[in-house]
Amino acid sequence: MAVITQNHCLVDCNTLSITAHAQAYCAVDGRDELCEALEYARGEQLPALVLGGGSNCVFSRDYPGLVLHMRSRGVDVEQLDGQPLLRVAAGENWDALVRSCLDEGYFGLENLIAIPGSVGAAPVQNIGAYGVELSRCLRWVEGWDIERGLFRRLSASECQLSYRDSIFKRALSDRFVITEVALQLCRRPQGDAGYPALRDYLLAAGEDPDRVHPRQLAQAVAAIRASKLPDYRREPNAGSFFKNPLVTASQAAELLKHWPEMAHWSMPDGRVKLAAAWLVERCGWKGHRQGPVGVHPRQAIVLVNYQQAGGEQILALANAIIASVYAQFAVRLEIEPRVY
Ligand code: EPU
Repeated sequence: MAVITQNHCLVDCNTLSITAHAQAYCAVDGRDELCEALEYARGEQLPALVLGGGSNCVFSRDYPGLVLHMRSRGVDVEQLDGQPLLRVAAGENWDALVRSCLDEGYFGLENLIAIPGSVGAAPVQNIGAYGVELSRCLRWVEGWDIERGLFRRLSASECQLSYRDSIFKRALSDRFVITEVALQLCRRPQGDAGYPALRDYLLAAGEDPDRVHPRQLAQAVAAIRASKLPDYRREPNAGSFFKNPLVTASQAAELLKHWPEMAHWSMPDGRVKLAAAWLVERCGWKGHRQGPVGVHPRQAIVLVNYQQAGGEQILALANAIIASVYAQFAVRLEIEPRVY
């Protein structure tokens, strides 16, 4: 049975450690509880917010509705074309899943090790790191369609995954609750070490990037992440606070005339992706402290809540950064986590 509490403190439910309160809160372990909780929200005319690991959200104020905290657990392994297909409950921890897959000899997720958050949240922003995005192995998601009032399955292509984006941030935003995710993995231990920083790390460690086992690849990714990304348990943060911006080829060429050393990558669609961290660092923000919040000294797009600031203070810093990057480069950075 769904247990709904009132005025629930969310400080332990978000990795930025923002003290905000939900008007109503329910820890959801299964489909029945989800339906009961949504029924409650409809009856009380409350909006509903779905929360996983809370690693990609900013509470700018108390939430005037029902927070559904997805806690369902379970991993089932099926075979599809001789390869493992994992059906994973939304409330499973992403990093724990990646590690258990490596233990079982199911490969494909190794570059995505050590990303905080839940499995159900992974398709929402199409998590990606070190050259691999979730889209590479996502088969389908299942969930509750709030508008239609039924559980349904969306194929990977229906999820419309792109860089840090999906249908769940757009047409189905606030309209679909992911309850299960299916991942197509592989038994052949072949990794992808194409991402330059990963390749360099492996070469420096005396490994051959093209022959490295996925377990070594995962160790390398975890070590690189640990060296530059702060652990939210000690320095509360939401990972990258800004997306890497996409600009036209001509805008990139113009910028490169002034800053030939600017980090950039050409995309298949002709646009150019810039490194938000490079732009922010060039504007002098890296390591900057603004009262209780600040920019991490080793990664310029990670904002840290050093002293229990509220979401509005974090957003004030983010907006100051956006304005200064725009003033210097005429590039508008977009906030990556979801703001409530
Ligand atoms: N850079 C700087 N200053 C910095 C940090 C980086 O100039 O303070 C430059 C680097 O020299 C490099 C470029 O920016 O040329 C890219 O840096 P990095 O490889 O660290 O990756 P990123 O683009 O900043 C993205 C993801 C991360 C992911 C890494 C590795 C986004 C918004 N972020 O960061 O994802 O771990 O690549 O693949 O795409 C997250 O989403 O929360 C996250 C951590």
